[in-house]
Amino acid sequence: MIENIIFKKIGFEDISEEFQKHAEKERISFLNKPEAHYFGAFDCEKLIGTICAVLNKNGKNGKLKSSYVLKEYRGNGIYTELNKMALGYAKEHNVKQLTLNCLPSSVSVHIKAGAVEWKKSKTIAYLKYDF
Ligand SMILES: CC(C)(COP(=O)(O)OP(=O)(O)OC[C@H]1O[C@@H](n2cnc3c(N)ncnc32)[C@H](O)[C@@H]1OP(=O)(O)O)[C@@H](O)C(=O)NCCC(=O)NCCS
Repeated sequence: MIENIIFKKIGFEDISEEFQKHAEKERISFLNKPEAHYFGAFDCEKLIGTICAVLNKNGKNGKLKSSYVLKEYRGNGIYTELNKMALGYAKEHNVKQLTLNCLPSSVSVHIKAGAVEWKKSKTIAYLKYDF
C-alpha cells in the first residue's frame, strides 16, 4: 500500500479541517506559522499523514511536531517515511539539532533514524537528532 502513497512538502493550508479534527482527538495540534515546515502523505488526493519541523529563528535547531497518521493507515511505514523526509529537509537546510517529545511506542522509529534518547518518563520520551 505504501507504494501508492505520495509524500511531499505541504503548507498549513493543505491540512484539512477534517484531518485536524481527527488529530486533535489524539491531542495532536498544528501551528500556522512560517517557521512550521510541514510534510504530508497522500492517498490519491486525501491527506493521510503529517509531520512538522518547527525551526527556530536562527535556523540551526528546532522541534519535530504534529506527527499524525489516520488510524486506518497506521502500521504501514507512513510515519517512518514522513520522518525521513523531515530529517532530510532539516539536513539540507543546515539544521544542527532537532528535538521531539514522543510516546514510548514511537521511540523505535526515531532511534532507527539516528535519534538519541536523553530523558524518559513513563509516558513521554525526549529525543534529539544531532546532524
Ligand atoms: C505514531 C504514529 C504517527 C505512527 O504512524 P504509522 O504510520 O503507523 O507508523 P509506522 O508504520 O511508520 O510505524 C512506526 C512505529 O509506530 C508503531 N506503530 C506501528 N503501528 C502502530 C499502530 N497501529 N498504533 C500505534 N503505533 C504503531 C511501531 O512501534 C512502529 O515502529 P517499528 O517500525 O519499530 O515497528 C501513529 O500511530 C499516530 O498518528 N498516532 C497517534 C498520534 C501520535 O501518537 N503521534 C505521535 C506523538 S509522539
